[in-house]
Amino acid sequence: MTSEPTAIPEFNSFNLQPLTGSLGAEILNTDLNLASDEEIAEMQQALDHYHVLAIRDQKLEPNTFHKLARRFGPFSGNPVHVPLEGFEDVVRFTRGAEDQGPVVGEQLHMDLAWMKIPPGTTMLYGEEIPPVGGDTLFASLSAAYEGLSDAMRDLIHDLVGVHSGKGVFTLNASHATAFSVKESGQQVEEIETEHPLVCLHPGTGRKHLFISGALCRFVGMTEEESRPIIDYLLSHAQRVEYCCRLRWAPGTLTLWANHCLLHAAINDYSGQRRVVLRSTVAGIPPVAAGD
Ligand SMILES: [Fe+2]
Repeated sequence: MTSEPTAIPEFNSFNLQPLTGSLGAEILNTDLNLASDEEIAEMQQALDHYHVLAIRDQKLEPNTFHKLARRFGPFSGNPVHVPLEGFEDVVRFTRGAEDQGPVVGEQLHMDLAWMKIPPGTTMLYGEEIPPVGGDTLFASLSAAYEGLSDAMRDLIHDLVGVHSGKGVFTLNASHATAFSVKESGQQVEEIETEHPLVCLHPGTGRKHLFISGALCRFVGMTEEESRPIIDYLLSHAQRVEYCCRLRWAPGTLTLWANHCLLHAAINDYSGQRRVVLRSTVAGIPPVAAGD
């Protein structure tokens, strides 16, 4: 029942430095505006293996960011955020120096987990980044799965999670200075989507948990029965050895394998401005791990 980490791939197009023993890697000295098809294919392979890729010192603006994102695959769709004018697939998230209170995405979450086909990859590009603060925390749901006991894996193997969009529109609408929300996004509040709890990564065949803050119960169980299992898995996934903390700089482009990670924006840069571009790449429907 265990899923073993896949062999470490080798890359011809760039040098890659792993960030931790569990997940994350950094790539220096490449210009994605000049990337060959081979380099894009190798980046996808690196992303499949390391789950988080920080590519430093890029020079992107919305149009080149959009073009680059689409080389990784079609747009996933985004029912909530109003895109930048002229683009269907690019959103700008702005946190002004004067903005107070919570930042967008400060709870560990998976982007758009309640969609029938959640994004396979999220891409974020740092336009304006404070000198310190505003890191992103990532937690590997593959490492978390592999850290469970055999008995716990048996217990959860066939569960199917229900992921709810309840609260998503209200939360996003409260960040009025960060971005605009689509009026039709209110419908998201009614969405409930079922995904298998234990899934296979489509690129590597490695197993991972499919959990998020949107997971509200399991099919065939009550919320009261489900909640202790959900809380345990969310807390287990946050063990420090399954996590990677990424420091940003202007020009950093980060790609992450959205469906097998949790991530959180760290709210520690009060009084400073931070601006990022986001696009998302279509995934595939989550695949149950099976036997
Ligand atoms: Fe997010």
